Amino acid sequence: MGIILKRGIGAILTLLMTGFNSCNQTISTSKSGNFIDSLMNQMTIEEKVGQMTQICFSKITLGKNKELSLDTSMFVDAIRKYHVGSFLSGTGSANDWVEFNTLMQQIAVKKTRLGIPLLIGIDHIHGANYIDEGTILPHNILLGCSFDTALVKKAAQITTKETAVLGINWNFAPVLGLARNPYWPRFYETFGEDPFLVSELGAAFINGSQNCNSTLPFELAACAKHFVGYSDPRSGWDRTPAEIPQQKLFEFFIPPFKKAIDSGVKTIMANSGEVNGEPVHTSDWLLNDILRKELGFDGVLLTDIKDIQKVVEMHAGAKNLKEATLLAINAGFDVNMACEGFEFNRIMLELIEEGKITEARINESVRRILHLKHELGLFDNPYPSEKNIQGIGSQEYLDIARQIAEGSIVLLKNDGILPLNERNKKILLAGFATDSKKNLNGAWTHEWMGAEDKRHSKNMNTLAEVAWDFFGKNNVTCMGVYDSSLIYTRRFEQSANESDCIVLTVGEEPYSEFRGNITDLELRECDKKLLYLAIESAKPIVVILIEGRPRLITEFSEKTDALLFAGYPGIRGAEAIMNIITGKKCPSGKLCFSYPKYSGYDVNYYHKTSEQYDVLFPFGHGLSYNDFEYKNFRVNKTIVSTFEESITASVSIKNNGQFNGKETALWFISDCYGRITRPVKLLKHVDIIFLKPGEEKTIEFTFSPEFVLSYPDKNNQSVLEKGDFEISVGHFRQKISFSN
Ligand code: GLC
Repeated sequence: MGIILKRGIGAILTLLMTGFNSCNQTISTSKSGNFIDSLMNQMTIEEKVGQMTQICFSKITLGKNKELSLDTSMFVDAIRKYHVGSFLSGTGSANDWVEFNTLMQQIAVKKTRLGIPLLIGIDHIHGANYIDEGTILPHNILLGCSFDTALVKKAAQITTKETAVLGINWNFAPVLGLARNPYWPRFYETFGEDPFLVSELGAAFINGSQNCNSTLPFELAACAKHFVGYSDPRSGWDRTPAEIPQQKLFEFFIPPFKKAIDSGVKTIMANSGEVNGEPVHTSDWLLNDILRKELGFDGVLLTDIKDIQKVVEMHAGAKNLKEATLLAINAGFDVNMACEGFEFNRIMLELIEEGKITEARINESVRRILHLKHELGLFDNPYPSEKNIQGIGSQEYLDIARQIAEGSIVLLKNDGILPLNERNKKILLAGFATDSKKNLNGAWTHEWMGAEDKRHSKNMNTLAEVAWDFFGKNNVTCMGVYDSSLIYTRRFEQSANESDCIVLTVGEEPYSEFRGNITDLELRECDKKLLYLAIESAKPIVVILIEGRPRLITEFSEKTDALLFAGYPGIRGAEAIMNIITGKKCPSGKLCFSYPKYSGYDVNYYHKTSEQYDVLFPFGHGLSYNDFEYKNFRVNKTIVSTFEESITASVSIKNNGQFNGKETALWFISDCYGRITRPVKLLKHVDIIFLKPGEEKTIEFTFSPEFVLSYPDKNNQSVLEKGDFEISVGHFRQKISFSN
């Protein structure tokens, strides 16, 4: 894998010198506000439209894919003929990235009229997942189970450190959707079902990504996506229509984006789907009225890939591409992720010529784009350098990747078999993720759907390798996915017979977007057959769920001895899993989503009073090897007279166990009744504490009724109603009433 640059960068630039007069104006990189004005005053309308265009690497590489082999003539065409201002989506080694980005920037800066540097975007949604040596972190659905903003910020910082130094300056992350629908194939890209948790973890990711001093002068723009309502398609299939009542949009789906904007996110990507009958990409109400005016977002708004075309081709939301383009630009887009064509540029010039789009409107977008480039320091420092890449994939980052996975894995059930000890000397380890790096890293890893094992880091170990390390090669028999053969069955039966314990991995092979659409939450047949074989052996069974969404395990949960949710745990996932099941680390993750019991009934923890929360494992569920005792719950007042009064609740937590442990205390508020019926409870605060065996700590949560009781109506007007409400933490709950 690498750039096919036989002649080297210098030669290519020389080649470009011929035939091109080096006519670029010297742009003063003054810090003064008029820098952008002076630049814009020099720009032609074609150059301005070019800045609004984003092209995929698959258009400008020799392989017509993500590989970093520049098709120089196509690239020069893109930036000299169409003045393209940004590109996205490659994959390769750190060195190749540095070389590729340097060449692109040198051509853009030295060989175009105004020398405007490029934005270069990537989907580093779980670590630097398109860098061969990158530290692949757990996907967000596992990270969300940590409930830990510090851990998420650390994850973002590692990602940024391994991305920005390569000259990649735009990361299309974090996803701020809500994991409300277990069928949705991008469930694993979110931080879970709760809007408060997604808001807090999303903000932590943004704070860890932008203004990251340790990568200066290289900066990165985060991208909150996909605004809005993308994660709850009625059918569960990716990019199918969502019908979300306006009030629910304001109460559940919009708050994570508001928090992101208030946290200074520099860019936002729109939802490819349609909400309440409107393709979001042409929704003046959602993008202008709500995103720009109501939420005050003045950063760069980016389409999703080819989504102006999809308004026509997928949604039939416009007669043709020209009409879709006009609608999308009037809805407020700044950059079109056109990906592989220059139709957009031609159509834009036509619309401007016809007076349907004014130059003033174009200037709004170009100003935002140039401001972003200026903020990222690109005019002063567009070039990466090899000397900054030595830290990529370092042992320090690998250790942090393991800590992140260890702090997120959820122990769902434990009949006492865990932690494994000397009684469990002989282990049978079987299942699809036993000997696989790809299945532990998940999709969006070196390739969109997840690359084959040989492409993954040599510094990564499989579960089998780690188990052999732990128990000794003679004590562990490893078998892959059940293959329906008699040989497999016989070997499994025999190995189980000789083993003290069976450890199975079941769940889902990696998938991306619409490729992961399903019609049934049931486990795959191969996993079910493996579980039946294990159950027949009558040996203790530990099941590790490696999956992007909660596949049904109801039938097996009573017949197995331990169950863990490990999502896609990343490059140190095997070590994290092994450390937890052997007790080297105490599990502390809690489910950031509701684990369904039935295929046809999915309900969230913040359901309505008229619904039954009948799930296999509830939101916030997660066991420890410790016994954390909640005691001395107090509330300083149970009657208030105003919304502004401050109330302080406190509780002590004692570690009655044998392990150093982390406990995540979730504080909920239940508004007992409301004109718009209220969720039975909502998460409002999280405390994370570390307790040694026998240690006890007191935590407290101070709040006002105004903070915890207000909710938006369908016009986003805040509603505050007097009446009883409850605060709960652990097994405690206390009603608080308004006087009179
Ligand atoms: C996709 C995804 C989006 C991603 C973009 C660029 O289709 O929806 O999340 O950032 O393409 O890869």
